[in-house]
Amino acid sequence: MRSLLFVPGNQPSKLEKAKGLSPDVLVLDLEDSVPPAEKEKGRAVVQEWLPAMVAPPRRLFVRVNPLSSGLTEADIAAIVGPGLDGISLPKVNSPADIAKADGLIASAERARGLAPGGVKLIPWIETARSILHAEEIARASARVIGMAFGADDFALDMGIVRSEDGRELLLPRGLLAIAARAAGVAALDGVYANFKHEDGLLGEARIARQRGFAGKFLIHPAQVKPANRIFAPSAQEVERAGKIVAAFDEAVAKGVAVAVVDGEMVDTPVAEQARKLLELAESLE
Ligand code: COA
Ligand code: MG
Repeated sequence: MRSLLFVPGNQPSKLEKAKGLSPDVLVLDLEDSVPPAEKEKGRAVVQEWLPAMVAPPRRLFVRVNPLSSGLTEADIAAIVGPGLDGISLPKVNSPADIAKADGLIASAERARGLAPGGVKLIPWIETARSILHAEEIARASARVIGMAFGADDFALDMGIVRSEDGRELLLPRGLLAIAARAAGVAALDGVYANFKHEDGLLGEARIARQRGFAGKFLIHPAQVKPANRIFAPSAQEVERAGKIVAAFDEAVAKGVAVAVVDGEMVDTPVAEQARKLLELAESLE
């Protein structure tokens, strides 16, 4: 899940365009990109378009409205069906919110005759409270496969003014990534709004990857390629990892667990990290 592209759910022209795009995940949005007066229409449009948007290996998610809106139950009932990989739930505050959503999804699965548990969940962690409970939130349902960090809503909740370099968000981003790892789910970064500014997107994505994020939500088709590039191991990284693994395995065969690569010591965790990177690169090919 390197690239998760939002498409506003009430805009058929963008849905049409999205058919031909190849982010790792397509996310049809019913929440913030659909104005209040369009919520019913957006739900109906997404329901109608969903079957046409199924194109594996691209995954298909819908971001529903938050539990506080009173719209979530009807959103979920309308969209759960064959071909839907999961639901993204905004403004989650507690494990109880996840339990509630899990129950709604389970009823929809039963109503549609789908195997239980097939529809996955990606909650948005975008309040102070949810950052502090992120691990429990991720563990509250086996459906949760990732957690998204929503920077704008988090800043709103905290009364933080965002800066260009985003240093005020390094701590919550880091906490979310650690909580996600502890719960065994993917950490996913929220959107970069300035969609014509590729360098800004690259910078923010690099910061996220360095902190352990697996991918990033996106708002514009032009952001897909840069995100896929940043969240995949580079050719240089793959080459270095190959050298590390080879040197380490050779050392172990000789009865030692340290090797030297380009003047640097390589020991067990470094070699394991290199092996994981090679596995990730291979899985993305
Ligand atoms: N999904 C699918 N297609 C999209 C798209 C998206 N997210 N964003 C833009 N496009 C399409 C446009 O419709 C346009 O199509 P066309 O060439 O057939 O006319 C093409 O890509 C180029 O778009 P562009 O003109 O550069 O941008 P725009 O001014 O039309 O749209 C935004 C800019 C920000 C309004 C738009 O990208 C958008 O709505 N993004 C999603 C917002 C969202 O979902 N937010 C919720 C999460 S925070
Ligand atoms: Mg949000």
